[in-house]
Amino acid sequence: MFAGKKVLVGISGGIAAYKVAEVVSRLRKLNVEVHVAMTKSATEFITPLTLRSLSANPVYVDLFDEPKLWNVEHIALAEYVDAVVVAPATANIMAKMSTGLADDFLSTVLLATRAPIFLAPAMNHAMYHHPATQENLTRLRERGIKIIGPAVGFQACGTEGEGRMSEAAEIVERLDQFFSGSDCLKGKRALVTAGGTQEPLDPVRFLGNRSSGRMGYAIAQVLQESGAETILVSAPTDLPTPPGVTRVPVQTALEMYEAVLANFPKMDVVVKAAAVADYRPAALAEQKLKKDGTNRTIELVPNPDILAELGQQKTSQVLIGFAAETENLLANAQEKMLRKNVNLLVANDVTKPGAGFGSITNIVSFLFPDGRRIDFPQMSKLEVARNLVSEIANLLGRNKGVK
Ligand SMILES: Cc1cc2nc3c(=O)[nH]c(=O)nc-3n(C[C@H](O)[C@H](O)[C@H](O)COP(=O)(O)O)c2cc1C
Repeated sequence: MFAGKKVLVGISGGIAAYKVAEVVSRLRKLNVEVHVAMTKSATEFITPLTLRSLSANPVYVDLFDEPKLWNVEHIALAEYVDAVVVAPATANIMAKMSTGLADDFLSTVLLATRAPIFLAPAMNHAMYHHPATQENLTRLRERGIKIIGPAVGFQACGTEGEGRMSEAAEIVERLDQFFSGSDCLKGKRALVTAGGTQEPLDPVRFLGNRSSGRMGYAIAQVLQESGAETILVSAPTDLPTPPGVTRVPVQTALEMYEAVLANFPKMDVVVKAAAVADYRPAALAEQKLKKDGTNRTIELVPNPDILAELGQQKTSQVLIGFAAETENLLANAQEKMLRKNVNLLVANDVTKPGAGFGSITNIVSFLFPDGRRIDFPQMSKLEVARNLVSEIANLLGRNKGVK
């Protein structure tokens, strides 16, 4: 749901600043709470008074102004908002963000916030294509910042080219899509696996793992909210099934294998977020194993590798894998991505506090076969899911204007 969210609109000093009035007004019409921060240069192009009137909130320009609402406003605002969108984003603000400069209100908030950041670059095409700007853009993208546009067309400097700010409607639609999921995956079929499989030893015991299933459930929720018909093949968890999602309960890796393989041919997207046991006990005792005071050895046999099997059978499906590692995260994840033929691998170091099993937050990197990598800061599993679904939409060619 986009309504009720808190969005900080950052305005830097480009000629397209006048268009941001429409962004603010459209956001308000969607019942979004809008705050505005402007660079000094931006105030040359559009007045704070206009933005204050349109947003119905005080406008922030000077880092050292008397606080309007909070004691340390740039930090409070950075933590308060659900998203930041900078429109227009000048070559200058992107260079500052790229190197971590914080010399005014807006750049300081951009450095302090953990909320998702969207940039709508706007500048003369020569400035846009300058290697410095392109390098900054690449770096910002790699940090998970979403770049909207720019568009190609007539520029205020009298030339034609790439560097025109995306239209207000498109910027707002992109934000709406991020929060509401909108229907960017309408008509698509998705399957998600979640939870830790349980491999029975006897009628009352099993070999299991610490996976809570939260990551997979969040992904299924966002896929469903994005319009995809979603199946959740779930190992046992205590989590409620997200509304509209079809849950297929399984217990063991073999059951998960069968459920996933049976559905795979009709799927457009498969996300393997489950923690599947690599091995299962060779024999299942019919009766409860009794203690007899002696050492006991359990023979284990390998389970089928579901992700590798899908990677081999894959035709047009977008296949996403997860790599939960406790050492050599990126090297192991990179190797897994290539070996399993996935389109995107989500890597997380499960030993980090705030990441992995059981935690409500996660710290992940997205790895792509073309060598691209996006490292995200610690964020809720729902936010990770939103970022992932946005990349899935990109892979399916469903995200207009977003790179
Ligand atoms: C009339 C005029 C139009 C400008 N338009 C742009 C623009 O579209 N994009 C851009 O990156 N810089 C533009 N600039 C240059 C920026 O305003 C300048 O780099 C400034 O330092 C940006 O500061 P800020 O990023 O703190 O807002 C323009 C300058 C002028 C005088």
